[in-house]
Amino acid sequence: MEEELRTPKTDAVDDADDDDPPALSSHALAALQEFLKEQSQSLANHETVETEGGGTGPGSEVALVTEDWRLSQFWYDPETARTVAQEVLSLCSDSNYNVACIACPTLYAYLKNMDPNISVQLLEYDKRFEQYGSDFTFYDYNQSEDLPLELKHTYQVVVADPPYLSKECLEKVTQTISFLVQPQKSYLLLLTGEVQRDRAAELLGLYPCNFRPRHSSKLGNEFRLFTNYDPGERLGGWEQEN
Ligand SMILES: C[S@@+](CC[C@H](N)C(=O)[O-])C[C@H]1O[C@@H](n2cnc3c(N)ncnc32)[C@H](O)[C@@H]1O
Repeated sequence: MEEELRTPKTDAVDDADDDDPPALSSHALAALQEFLKEQSQSLANHETVETEGGGTGPGSEVALVTEDWRLSQFWYDPETARTVAQEVLSLCSDSNYNVACIACPTLYAYLKNMDPNISVQLLEYDKRFEQYGSDFTFYDYNQSEDLPLELKHTYQVVVADPPYLSKECLEKVTQTISFLVQPQKSYLLLLTGEVQRDRAAELLGLYPCNFRPRHSSKLGNEFRLFTNYDPGERLGGWEQEN
């Protein structure tokens, strides 16, 4: 699902006088205009997402950086982001749980928007999210446990959305989840492809909910939300008794 970056060709007319201002051929000019149009459309489509209510403050606008498809970045659509964030807030409602978001920056942004006081750490590969200050931890799933020691066994709620649908990637992310979760009671949520159903059950004891995550860009893969707890009426319930 990667897309090659297209840059405009600069085949400037080279037989022009040195004194003349540089000029682009009509072909190069058309390519440049197309490139600039795509850039501005991409920014308009992806930079901010409206949430209910309008205005500023919690429940208003959630700012997102532009998707970088080379990093397998596909942001949730606003309804999905709100639904998953609401689920996490429900889990935290009676206790001051610490929440870890592994490779799901949209969820981090919605959680903070809906409850600025929530304790949430974003583990992410894309350093643009350093904008979140000490809430950001650089994370590469290939170094699954190369993380600050203060994060170890600190989180009662862990949500993960691995960048790839491979067995190897889910195994590595499983190691990260084990590093992060408090060994006693913890809530795990995994957003990934239907193809990971059996592995999610084997590795982490997770089962699919009826709620279907969606993305702002249309994806070919069927996505699911897996949990290690029965969500009851929420998230459409578990798909089947487990
Ligand atoms: C499928 S996207 C999940 C994003 C989620 N749908 C959201 O809206 O927040 C995968 C995420 O993995 C991150 N990522 C890419 N390469 C990674 C790596 N080597 N290690 C950890 N995370 C990586 C991407 O930056 C991206 O945020």
